[in-house]
Amino acid sequence: MIFGQAWVFSVMARIVLLPKGVVFECDAGESIYDAAARQEIRFPVSCRNGVCEICKGRLLIGELSVGASAPNLIANAGHQPEVMLCRAVPQSDCEIEIESVYARGELPLKSVVCQVESVSKLDNYIYKASLLLPAGGTPEFYAGQYLSLEIPGFEEACYFSIASAPGPRLLELHIQADPHLERACKIVEFLNGASTVKLNLPHGKACLPTVPDQELILIAAGTGFAQMKSLIEFLLPNGFAHPLTLYWGVRKEQDMYMREQAEQWQREYKNFQFRPHIADIDTIDGVDHHNQLAEAVLADEHDIANSLVFTSGSPRLVFSVLDSLEQAGLPEDQFFSDVLEYAERPR
Ligand code: FES
Repeated sequence: MIFGQAWVFSVMARIVLLPKGVVFECDAGESIYDAAARQEIRFPVSCRNGVCEICKGRLLIGELSVGASAPNLIANAGHQPEVMLCRAVPQSDCEIEIESVYARGELPLKSVVCQVESVSKLDNYIYKASLLLPAGGTPEFYAGQYLSLEIPGFEEACYFSIASAPGPRLLELHIQADPHLERACKIVEFLNGASTVKLNLPHGKACLPTVPDQELILIAAGTGFAQMKSLIEFLLPNGFAHPLTLYWGVRKEQDMYMREQAEQWQREYKNFQFRPHIADIDTIDGVDHHNQLAEAVLADEHDIANSLVFTSGSPRLVFSVLDSLEQAGLPEDQFFSDVLEYAERPR
């Protein structure tokens, strides 16, 4: 129902934006747009006076007031009217259908064509790809997020952690291209010969939209270091003052391809600790190795219950670390890994 006359009454209301299911509270007398913006929830707006209709949403359940002076704020009165959310004030809890809603901390996915600046070797089989985003309209991402490359001839997108911090136009990727990893070898071969590549970003919820106010523990296996590098390069120059510890596990010493960089952070920042772990095994997926990384974390002094933990590696490693740290008191919602979004718990 729509109230078009003067503000009849006004209540604090719970708003649900569908189909995404974004939920927020609206104070009494506050427009849906103002309440959403206050809580860092975004949907398209422009004029904010009911003219452009870009903020139009369909009222599925509930009651809204649009004010007597602005009947044009209802585009299509009826059973489920379309309403301009920039001016609509809820009179009850409401469910509203509107596309292109971004929850707090969420960024729009964008496609861009980047220049391939360089591809260089970091060790025997690990390559660094430097990609230059186009000037102007540079897509945003948060530290810790990943992107997908569109490689000609590949039916599926190729996903890589962004190894650099948000801000500069130059993006860094770390690609492990052992000879037996045919797909990765083809990606490196393509990038080596290409001047441009199309990519989509950002992806992933294991990220930091802002600098947190608590201890951080970062656990990486192999090229999972790339995600941690983005987080560290975002945190350290931005005044993060709590303890920050990186545990980096590799199979062989030569696989620790940016050890010098990690050691340099440790020299430069008092709150940063580097804990390298070399398994000296042929595969990083050995069960003992997983336990060793979690045990290394637990052997050090951490305020586990009040820390944020980011882990990057195989599903077996990630779930093993999660289980060990939860037993030590880490709340589940303080553990972040991309693996949790796409992988089942290994049996
Ligand atoms: S922003 Fe233009 S009608 Fe709402």
